Amino acid sequence: MAPGADRGGLTVAVVGATGVVGRTMLRVLEERRFPVGELRCLASVRSAGRVRLAFGGQQHEVGLAEPAALDGCDVALMSAGAAAARELAPAAAAAGVIVVDNSSAFRQDPGVPLVVPEVNGALLDDHPRLVANPNCSTIQLTVALAPLHRAFRLRRLHVATYQSASGAGRALVDALRQQSLQVARDEIPTAQAYPHPLAGNVVPGGWRVEGDATEEELKIVVETRRLLELPELAIGCTAVRVPVAVGHAEAVWAAFDGPVPPAAARAVLATAPGVVLHDDLAADRYPTPLAAVGTDAVWVGRLRADLGEPGALSLFVVADNLRKGAALNAVQIAERLCGVGLAAPS
Ligand SMILES: NC(=O)c1ccc[n+]([C@@H]2O[C@H](COP(=O)([O-])OP(=O)(O)OC[C@H]3O[C@@H](n4cnc5c(N)ncnc54)[C@H](OP(=O)(O)O)[C@@H]3O)[C@@H](O)[C@H]2O)c1
Repeated sequence: MAPGADRGGLTVAVVGATGVVGRTMLRVLEERRFPVGELRCLASVRSAGRVRLAFGGQQHEVGLAEPAALDGCDVALMSAGAAAARELAPAAAAAGVIVVDNSSAFRQDPGVPLVVPEVNGALLDDHPRLVANPNCSTIQLTVALAPLHRAFRLRRLHVATYQSASGAGRALVDALRQQSLQVARDEIPTAQAYPHPLAGNVVPGGWRVEGDATEEELKIVVETRRLLELPELAIGCTAVRVPVAVGHAEAVWAAFDGPVPPAAARAVLATAPGVVLHDDLAADRYPTPLAAVGTDAVWVGRLRADLGEPGALSLFVVADNLRKGAALNAVQIAERLCGVGLAAPS
């Protein structure tokens, strides 16, 4: 019998349900037929009691994300930021709730596993109650790189990201829409929710600054090292926000212990879990954010020998940041911990 079947399904809380990630979580839970018996949609005082969200053919009124709201839950999928995560997640996990948190609150906590099922899903075999979902850019990067690392041993990495507005939440998606209308009217777009206008622009900042890097760049470095279990890996990263609503892209340069022929890398990626190789430059086949939206895969293309370093590889990696970069990865973790659904690839 499936877990929770005797109660008509599991009691599942989605914390941050009104946000772009939370709404995608609801969609992914529905699509994957996660055995939801009772659903609790939770958010801040701004939405509690005021917003209703559709799930399973019914409207669910949003409740306040407070500790008591998680009492008796089997699973809590959290995407409400680090402050709410610190307030709610440890107590819920201690009470036996399976908590998967999307914020940065626990990603560097050695006592909390940081998991991408295709990369290090074996950590879930210890049945942790609290699991951290990595940063969206890091998830797609490591899904593409882990199989190459297993085959060829990664030595050095450079990444330039092209990150969509939705990675910063619904406020920047709304701002981009309004700015795009301004551009269409030949007006100069006004900056909202970000230090510079995004429409008609490319912005190499907007995240919190730490030294001469952004917080996003440091997250990609630290979390990639942790997920690949390469604490000394040399990584250079530049994170850039681009005027795309959904879908992050990354230009990646990877050097390995020895020279890696592109054909050998292609053979590895052709069977890698979670990866779709979409790569025929002459036929204009390569991944783009627009084509990746709504899909579950990490798309890899433009795979070729790097002209700057003999034996190294260049590739282009694209995924839907709201799905594999956030909601889908969290649901896959919950599925595996609950022993339900479409098994996450190991
Ligand atoms: N967007 C991505 O691609 C992505 C990827 C990976 C991880 N994440 C992480 O996921 C989290 C949510 O991101 P998002 O993009 O969905 O943001 P968002 O669209 O701005 O939504 C934020 C959500 O969190 C709720 N919230 C905010 N403060 C809260 C509080 N103190 N207590 C309870 N609920 C609170 C909001 O509720 P109200 O409606 O009441 O304001 C809303 O539901 C963040 O931690 C983010 O870093 C995002």
